Amino acid sequence: MIKQFTSASELHYFLAELKNDSKEIGFVPTMGALHDGHMALIDKAMRENDLVVCSIFVNPKQFNNADDLAKYPRTVNEDIKLLSKHNCHVVFVPSIDEIYPNEVSQKYNFGSLEALMEGEHRPGHFNGMAIVVKRLFEIVNPHRAYFGEKDFQQLMIVRRLVEMEDMGIDIVGCATSREFNGLAMSSRNKLLTEKQRNEASVIYRELSEIAKNYCTNVNEMNELISTGIKRINSIVDFEVEYLTLVDGDTLQPTVNQGYSWKPHLFIAVKVGNVRLIDNLPIIV
Ligand code: PAF
Repeated sequence: MIKQFTSASELHYFLAELKNDSKEIGFVPTMGALHDGHMALIDKAMRENDLVVCSIFVNPKQFNNADDLAKYPRTVNEDIKLLSKHNCHVVFVPSIDEIYPNEVSQKYNFGSLEALMEGEHRPGHFNGMAIVVKRLFEIVNPHRAYFGEKDFQQLMIVRRLVEMEDMGIDIVGCATSREFNGLAMSSRNKLLTEKQRNEASVIYRELSEIAKNYCTNVNEMNELISTGIKRINSIVDFEVEYLTLVDGDTLQPTVNQGYSWKPHLFIAVKVGNVRLIDNLPIIV
């Protein structure tokens, strides 16, 4: 039977005792509306730890758009059932006051990691994300925490956060789970119509097409990317916010593509009012 906590201090002391008993704790932070992608993280955490904690908290601080926050899907009861089915040990469902008993005004600087893509298009998003992740890490104090590579920029920033705060937590990145048509699994997919969900397969298809034709000629790459954008934008209600080729370590475009250059594509697309992201490393 899954153990449920709403109190940060009760969870903290419960886990501290287990840690004293040399139990290894795995942690999967989420905003709920759980899907098979989350469950892949839970299953991996279950294999690698003695006890697994999943948190469900829609963090207002990381939404730069009030409407996006209001319509974010919330399905806590179904989420808990799904976690139980996967034998997850603990679920933490805190209130806003439990997470933020005092106002937090911390400002992080993640440098080049937050300069582009989500950092550029969602001002304040990564700061709000880092604030909640730090707070959750302090409460749970896990050995390992699991993050999906669908949010690759977030994963890199969390790794930097753990270094900056010297938290000694192993951050485990997990491959993106995809629907049968290639669409990256996301809680936001629940907000799409069936037609949009089918059509959204174009995102992964175009990323794969660009990756397949990858070459080191910058003009040719720009041409390939423009063609991908045009194809996606030609679908009614679809609008590419960015489709960018950067280095997978620095998240910066590299003009002089040296031997350490790891080409990696990142995309954000608005489908009606729903914003989807995806990314694809290019194997050269
Ligand atoms: O990836 C998410 O669901 C969220 O950004 C996270 C890591 C749970 C923090 O709110």
